[in-house]
Amino acid sequence: MLRIGMLTSGGDCQALNAAMRGVVKGICTKRDDVEIYGFQDGYKGLIYGNFSMLTPKDFSGILTRGGTILGTSRQPFKLMRVPDADGLDKVEAMKHTYYKLNLNCLVILGGNGTHKTANLLREEGLNVVTLPKTIDNDLWGTDMTFGFQSAVDIATDTIDRIHTTATSHSRVFIIEIMGHKVGHVTLHAGIAGGADIILLPEIPYDIKAISDVIQKRTKAGKKFTILAVAEGAISKEDAKLKKKEYKEKLAKRKYPSIAYELAEQIEKTTDKEVRITVPGHTQRGGSPCAYDRVFATRVGAKAAELILNQEYGYMVAMRDGEITKVPLEEVAGKLKYVDPKCSFIQEAKMIGISFGDE
Ligand code: F6P
Repeated sequence: MLRIGMLTSGGDCQALNAAMRGVVKGICTKRDDVEIYGFQDGYKGLIYGNFSMLTPKDFSGILTRGGTILGTSRQPFKLMRVPDADGLDKVEAMKHTYYKLNLNCLVILGGNGTHKTANLLREEGLNVVTLPKTIDNDLWGTDMTFGFQSAVDIATDTIDRIHTTATSHSRVFIIEIMGHKVGHVTLHAGIAGGADIILLPEIPYDIKAISDVIQKRTKAGKKFTILAVAEGAISKEDAKLKKKEYKEKLAKRKYPSIAYELAEQIEKTTDKEVRITVPGHTQRGGSPCAYDRVFATRVGAKAAELILNQEYGYMVAMRDGEITKVPLEEVAGKLKYVDPKCSFIQEAKMIGISFGDE
């Protein structure tokens, strides 16, 4: 008997269901002595022993469905060893559930925080295989995460829709795109949507450079300017602050997010009216795009192969177009940032896109 525990953790994204379907199809094509334990709401289900017994039928017809049939939650890594209200050590509780159910392995779908915990469970002796999910595409060790391409499509569609109204009213539009720490979604959607200015957490901006671009465009007869701004975009001034000081500054910010702060500064320094659009969680919602369906199915199938071969302690990844495996200890705790010096940024600059830095 092969007993598999499965959970999805962290912020959801498109193609989680497609990936789980890939895993289950891959395993159940080869074996019929399989028990699948679906833990509810991420690590919470493993901690408190909340699960349902699932059959291959439960994974049928979910390829195109957004969200996750298992539910998810954020369980911060730094709190994993902090006892809960009842004094329960969460790591010990997870181990307890694992051994009580006599599981052969855990299949964990998640992003950065999830991988830190998955690696901790590996260090504690549990058999773990993980799958790379997140719209942010910021997981170290893989060229791609599922959810990313779908989110880029949605953010691009938002920019496309803004274009016509921006032209009619001669306005400046800011589209705030998800990504607190990294700007992959903003960079891709910004390019795909034809944004004039792209602001990323990795490239601190100067408000004067932004105003100059807007004014130059006005002088050149362009009626509008579109900014694709990552949630975590930061000014050059703020980038000099210590992490703690910046956090305190953010806590006191009178605006809900960076887009509003920028809008005020742009209205002050140009004679343009500014409007803000925040697609927010729509970027994680709805059906996965075709790319994500294919990619999630491929990584799901690879996870099945690892489990059938009893190869544990790996994240399934994409490297140079091939689906492969990366040791969990190499992945955990590392982020994949946009490299400000990469050719992608240079190409964007070549065609006149400003990153607000010069
Ligand atoms: O980690 C993915 C992500 O979508 C980020 O881009 C975004 O900043 C964050 O999650 C939002 O998280 P929450 O769902 O907790 O609001």
